[in-house]
Amino acid sequence: NSNGPRVIAIDGPAGTGKSTVSKILADRVGAQFLDTGAMYRAATLAVLNAGVPLQDAASIGTVVDAADIRLDVAETGSRTYLDGVDVSVAIRTDAVTDAVSAVSAVPEVRSKLVAVQRREADGSFVVVEGRDIGTVVFPDADLKIFLTATPEARAARRHRQNLAAGRDSVLDEVLAGVNRRDHLDSTRTVSPLRPASDAVLVDTSDLTLDQVIDTLDDLVRDRIGVQ
Ligand code: DC
Repeated sequence: NSNGPRVIAIDGPAGTGKSTVSKILADRVGAQFLDTGAMYRAATLAVLNAGVPLQDAASIGTVVDAADIRLDVAETGSRTYLDGVDVSVAIRTDAVTDAVSAVSAVPEVRSKLVAVQRREADGSFVVVEGRDIGTVVFPDADLKIFLTATPEARAARRHRQNLAAGRDSVLDEVLAGVNRRDHLDSTRTVSPLRPASDAVLVDTSDLTLDQVIDTLDDLVRDRIGVQ
């Protein structure tokens, strides 16, 4: 893998602290950060903007294929663009979150976004965060990490984030949402969520953010070294 990108793949379900951890780790080891969930969210926003029904896989494929989805991996943090418009805030709404599983299950959507992800990572040192990075997008990644946590721990984290952001939140409903998305993401036929056979599993249920970062930092230094 000496000429291609150097890749740290971080996969796992929502609520494991994956996004926060991936960003901080990328900073620490001097890598760029690629948030592939943001791309699926931007694709979903394109579908919602086009008014396409979520059952219409063929039209979803067409809309997403025509969409220009980019991540700007600037030092100031990553921004997401859809057809030249900064949609970094718009992709975090409940409407997008509720529709993203349906859109990300469409094979044309996945093949398009996987190609974009490979292109964006080309030639660099990147932490790539997602669901299928170690299994599909970068099967030759230098290090693969799969973050896990119990559904209860993940729901509790999401619930705290909601409250901190001033959003209404009911823990039981959050837990039901976590279970529903897990089920959809792990049972879909294209790229279901599962750890790569050579991924290192890290259960974050009882770890603080600092403990998770230290664990991953050690893995990076052991496995690929840092310049
Ligand atoms: O990490 P996130 O919550 O922003 O991801 C949003 C959705 O996108 C999530 O439901 C699963 C999907 N996704 C995917 O299918 N493949 C990826 N590589 C990243 C995200």
